[in-house]
Order: sequence, then C-alpha cells, then structure tokens
Amino acid sequence: MTKASVKKVVVTAALPYANGELHLGHLRSTYLPADIYTRFRNLIGDKAIYLCATDEHGTPILFKAEEEGIKPEEYVKIWRKDHLADFKSVGIHFHKFYQTHSPEHTELTQTLFNKLKQHTCMKPVKLHWCLKCDMSLPDRFVIGTCPFCNAEEQYGDHCEACGKVIPFGELMNAKCKKCGTASTIKEAEHLFFKLSTFSSRLESFIHNQLKAEKEVKNFVMAWIHEGLQDWDIERHISWGVPIPEHKGVFYVWFDAPIGYMTTLQKWCSENNEKFEEWWNPQSDIVHFIGKDIVYHHFLFWPAMLMAAGFNTPTEIPVRGHLRLEGKKLSKSRGWYIPLKAWKGKKQDWEYLRFYMTWTTPLGMKDTDFSASDYVQIVNGELVNNLGNLLQRILKFSENTTASKIPESEVGEVFNKVVSLKKKYEKVMLAGDMQKGLYLTSEAGKLVNVYFQAKEPWKNPEIAPEVIRTAASCMKIITQMLVPFLPSRVEKISELLNIKVKWEDDEPLPVGHILRKAKILFPRITDDDLALIKSIYEAS
Ligand code: MSP
Ligand code: ZN
Repeated sequence: MTKASVKKVVVTAALPYANGELHLGHLRSTYLPADIYTRFRNLIGDKAIYLCATDEHGTPILFKAEEEGIKPEEYVKIWRKDHLADFKSVGIHFHKFYQTHSPEHTELTQTLFNKLKQHTCMKPVKLHWCLKCDMSLPDRFVIGTCPFCNAEEQYGDHCEACGKVIPFGELMNAKCKKCGTASTIKEAEHLFFKLSTFSSRLESFIHNQLKAEKEVKNFVMAWIHEGLQDWDIERHISWGVPIPEHKGVFYVWFDAPIGYMTTLQKWCSENNEKFEEWWNPQSDIVHFIGKDIVYHHFLFWPAMLMAAGFNTPTEIPVRGHLRLEGKKLSKSRGWYIPLKAWKGKKQDWEYLRFYMTWTTPLGMKDTDFSASDYVQIVNGELVNNLGNLLQRILKFSENTTASKIPESEVGEVFNKVVSLKKKYEKVMLAGDMQKGLYLTSEAGKLVNVYFQAKEPWKNPEIAPEVIRTAASCMKIITQMLVPFLPSRVEKISELLNIKVKWEDDEPLPVGHILRKAKILFPRITDDDLALIKSIYEAS
C-alpha cells in the first residue's frame, strides 16, 4: 500500500548565528527535533527536505570580527565550517545548508523588500550615539536596562529576560559596549515596516491557521493585544544586505528569515526543482525554533510574507531552553556542553539524541541536562529495554530454531505494538517527538513483558510463537526508531535481515532467517559519566 497523498514538506531550523560554538541547547530545542521530524516525514512517504544556513549579518558578528581583527567575511566562514562539522557529528542531516552572506540572499532579500515596500515608511528615531567612538550604537553595540522589565545588562534590540523587542533609543542607562561611555541620543530618520497594520491579520493567522502549541499562541496573542509597534528595519553599519535606494543595510532580523527561502531556492536550483512547487499553500512549511525567537517567527516573519504576497508557514514548533545540572548555561563561565565536546570525549551521538528527545517536551518549558540522569535514562530505557530485547530475541532464536522464524501464529501483543505504531504516527505528525519516543519505548516494554511471562526457555511448545511474535514486534519497533537512531537502525535491520518499510504491518514470514546476536547498545559506564562531567565541572 502506498500513501494516499504525498505532501511536500519544507522543514527549517532557526539559522544559527555564525559567531560561536554550537552547544547542546541549540541541538535540543531546534536542530534535533527538526532532523527527527524530517526523517519521520520521509519515513512515512512524504517528500521532506531539511534546510538551514548560517545567519551571518548583524552587529554581534561585526563586533566580534572587529575584536578578532579579521574581516566579517572571513569570520563567518570560519564558523560556517565549524557549525557544519558539529552538526554532522550528531547525525543532523540537512538537504541544504547555505549562508545569508551570499549574492542569492542579497538578491532575494531586496526582491522581497521591493514587493512589500508599500508597507514601509520613514519615521524619526532616536539613536544611541557614542561621542568617544564617534559612531551610532545599534543593537549589540549598546548595553543598558530594559524599559519593559528593568532587567539590567541588556542589549539595545532585544531583552533576554522578558523576550521583548526594544524600540530604538529606548534602552535605559545606555552605554557604549566598546568603551563604556554613556550614550547620547541623536535624532535621525529610519525605514520602518508597518507591523502595526498587520495586527488583525496576524491574529486571525495565529488563531485559525497556524499549528503551534496553545501556550505559545497565548503568549503571542497577549503581545498583539498590547499593541504591535512598527519595526525599525534600517541600520547604519558596514555589514548586511543593502537597502535598495537607501544608505543603510537591513536589520539582521529582516534578512535572516528570508534565508529560509534563499536556501530553498538554492536547493531547488541544485536539484532541478521549482521553488513555487515547494513554497505554496499545498505544501507544509515548518519552522523549528527555540522560545527566545518566538516574536520574530510568529509576528515579524508572517507579516513580511503577507506583505510580500507569499504564503505563511504551516507550523512553528517551539521548545524551551536547556539548563545544565539545574543551572542556566553560561558560555563565559564554561557552564555548557559544546557539541564538539561530545565527540571529543568519544560519547555516543545516538545516545545523546535519545536522551535529548526523551527529556524535551513541546512548548516553552525549560529542561535540564544532567549527566547522571543521562546515564540512567539511556541505560534504562534504551540499553535495558530496547537493546536487550533485540539481543534476547536473536539469542533465543539462535539457540532454539537456528535463527529461523518457525511456523506459528503471532500472539496478541503484535497487534498491540502495531496499534502503538498508529498512535506514534499521529503524535509525530503533530511534531511531538518526545511522545513518539515514549510510545516506541512502551512497545519495547510490552514485548519484554510478554517474553518474560511466556518463559519460552521453560516451555518449548510456546517457543515458536514467542520467536515469531517478538521478532515481528521488533521489526515494527525498528520502523519507529528510524527518525531517532538513524545509524543504529541500519545495524538492527541487518541483524533482523529486513528492509524498513513503513507501510509493512505484517509479521515476519515463516522461514525468514535472522542473523546472529551482536551487542549494538553497550551500557554507559562510570568512566563515560566522569568524562561527560569533566566537560563542564572544572569550570
Ligand atoms: N540567528 C537567530 C535565528 C534566526 S532564524 C531566521 C538565532 N540564532 S542562535 O544561534 O542564537 O540560535 C539558534 C537556535 O538555537 C534558536 O532556535 C534558539 O532558540 C536556539 N537556542 C539557542 N540557545 C539555546 C538554549 N540555551 N537552549 C535551547 N535553545 C537554544 O537565534
Ligand atoms: Zn564608545
């Protein structure tokens, strides 16, 4: 049976800034769930592509490049390469990974701007200005107190404490980030996107059209009801996409989401596909993001798309932030786990994927990485439950039927596992990878309980049923594991001597030959635990 309707699915993950190491936080909220989702959609027969790129413009990057004494072009190139290697090391597979500092991106950003120009206007602004450095202080060049929640040490554009976008010049007690001089205010005129005029269209889009967690929607609705402010999209720095017929460049958050489209366009041109066939109302457009960039993805970006005449995203799955051993991550204090360190300490990347998925719900809730929790969950839920089950089935059939599936009916537990697979399909389609993994594990437990209760080693007459049933269940469980453990699944398939086919809900045929048992899921040891802790504990 083939799928009734094959959907085209454009999956994106928030574009990582090309200015620092990727860590487990990035992985957890954004890149891993998107990877799993894409693999899942392809597994069930849709045509899904996973797109991403480095976000290369904006003041923080310019600032850091200046600090290091290199050109921003050189600086972003270093990080682009670094990110790609990091992603690869944990099995994140993009169909295309591109970059926002590129001719195609400049062209597309300007084209899109020209389409939405009638929704922009010039407005007076108050700029922070440093008399000592003799320059304007946009975004990251200025630091001060948030005018909404009074959090200190916030940058000029965005408060990390309350999540709000700070209008130009409104940061309080503002100081030059470079030299510490108190900023003075200078009057100027900037280009604004008239976000306020989109309030009711955004409200109805979020309410009626967009798939997202209720909790997140409520958050965004509250912002809309407070009143949306027009959005300053102009900056006067030497790095960014030039605004047509203006002096400045676009604010990085104007060009960044357009990077989703640039990357799609690039993928299409490299794969003989048409952009319009992928970015249209019949396809699914799914943006994976962390909770700190909800404002940009639920308000700015859909409004830009509406204004330029493109269709809006179908779904925006949001996930919360990662803490480490109960404490907030801090890069400056070394309190975080870089993706690199995981590979550096020779830890298993699929175990990491398993743990991260197991512990990360959809929605705004922050969650923790704890090394001892990691060991307990992986050893308990993956090694003991699923790994041992596979081992048990292969060993027992090896010893009893020379690895052959014997003539027998299948037990009722097989139907139960197939019905868990149906549930799994539903929750995974709804973007809930955690529930999908729980259901997979539940299936494993059912079969273990069945195996144990039948005691086939004591009752030879029941052995044929147990072998055929348990091995057939394992086949279904293997299908369910595809998105989570892409490499292990290949090895499991070899041992079961099967090819994964999602539509196949049949028991293994009588006479099918299994392979000899092999340990695919070694336990995490105390040495591993110490190695993981050494990544951050010295700091
Ligand atoms: N460049 C912007 C996104 C532009 S999208 C058009 C950006 N980059 S980022 O590198 O800071 O973050 C990339 C992704 O990782 C975002 O989805 C962000 O929410 C997520 N996270 C960054 N730090 C995180 C944690 N500590 N925990 C969980 N997710 C985190 O934002
Ligand atoms: Zn200064």
